Amino acid sequence: MTGRNKITVVGAGNVGATAAHWIASKELADVVLVDIVEGTPQGKSLDLAQAAPIDGFDVKLVGANSYEETADSDIVIITAGLPRKPGMSRDDLLKTNADIVGKVTDEVAKHSPNAVLIIVSNPLDAMAQVAFKRSGFPKNRVLGMAGVLDSARMRCFIAEELNVSVENVTAFVLGGHGDTMVPLPRYSTVAGIPITELIEKDKLDAILKRTANGGAEIVGLLKTGSAYYAPSLGAVEMAEAILKDKKKILPCAVYLEGEYGVNNLFVGVPVKLGKNGVEQIIEISLTNEERAALHKSAGAVQELIDVLGI
Ligand code: LAC
Repeated sequence: MTGRNKITVVGAGNVGATAAHWIASKELADVVLVDIVEGTPQGKSLDLAQAAPIDGFDVKLVGANSYEETADSDIVIITAGLPRKPGMSRDDLLKTNADIVGKVTDEVAKHSPNAVLIIVSNPLDAMAQVAFKRSGFPKNRVLGMAGVLDSARMRCFIAEELNVSVENVTAFVLGGHGDTMVPLPRYSTVAGIPITELIEKDKLDAILKRTANGGAEIVGLLKTGSAYYAPSLGAVEMAEAILKDKKKILPCAVYLEGEYGVNNLFVGVPVKLGKNGVEQIIEISLTNEERAALHKSAGAVQELIDVLGI
C-alpha cells in the first residue's frame, strides 16, 4: 500500500493514454490503464513508466486487460468506446458506446465501490447517465467531462482573437456536449472584463459557432479519430480538483433534479468539485434566451436517453 492516490483510466486509446500521460506528468496519482486489446495498455504504461526517470515523476503505471488491478481506485476515468469518424455525429455512437460503457461501469463499480467516475466517452451526457444508472453510485460521484473542454476551446479562440494570454480568459459553456451546447458570452471574461465589451458581435458569433463545432473541426482534420489532448486534460483537471479537494468551480455534466428546470438528466452546468466529487450545483441566473437554449440542449440529451430507455 502506498499513500498515493489511484486513478484508473479505462480505454487505452488516444484519450485514455494521454490522460495517463497528464496524470503522470502532474504526479497526481498512480495509474492503472485498462483496455480490452491485449498488450496496448501494458505497452503504453511501460513506455510512460520509462519516461518517469527523465521527467522525475514518481507514480506507478500499470496496464491491464481486466479489472483486478483497478481495485479501490479513488477516481475512474472512462474513455472506452468508439471515437467519431468524419461525418459522424457524437450521437451516431449512441448504442455501441452505451453497451461498452455499461459493461465497463459494472466492472468498475464492483472493484472500486467508492470511486468518483468521470465519463469522457461520447455521446457524453448520455454515457454519463448510463454510468450513473448502471453503477448505482450517488449522483455526486458520477460526472461527465465536456464543459471544461468546450470552455477551453472557447478560451483558446478568445485569446487568439484578442492576442491576450489564455490565462486571462475565462469562459462558460453549458448544456449538452453537442451541437446545441450553450456558450455564455455574458459570463466569459478577459481579466474580469466581459468579452461582450471586447469583441464585436460578428466575431463573437463566429467564436461561439467554432466552439460548438470544436470537436468536429478536429475530426475533420485528423480524419481517423477525434481530439484527445484537450479532452484528456479536461478530465484530469476534474480529477485533480477532486483529489486535492480544491472546491474548484468547473462546468461538468451532472445529474440534475430540478436545477435549471431540468429533471433526471445529465447536462453540463457549473459545479463545485472537491473530495466528495460534485459538492454543489451552482445555479447562475440566465436570460430567457439563455435558458431556452439550455432547455433545447437538454431536450437533445433527453432524446438520446429516450432511445436508450434508461
Ligand atoms: C470532442 C469530442 C471528443 O469534442 O467529443 O472533441
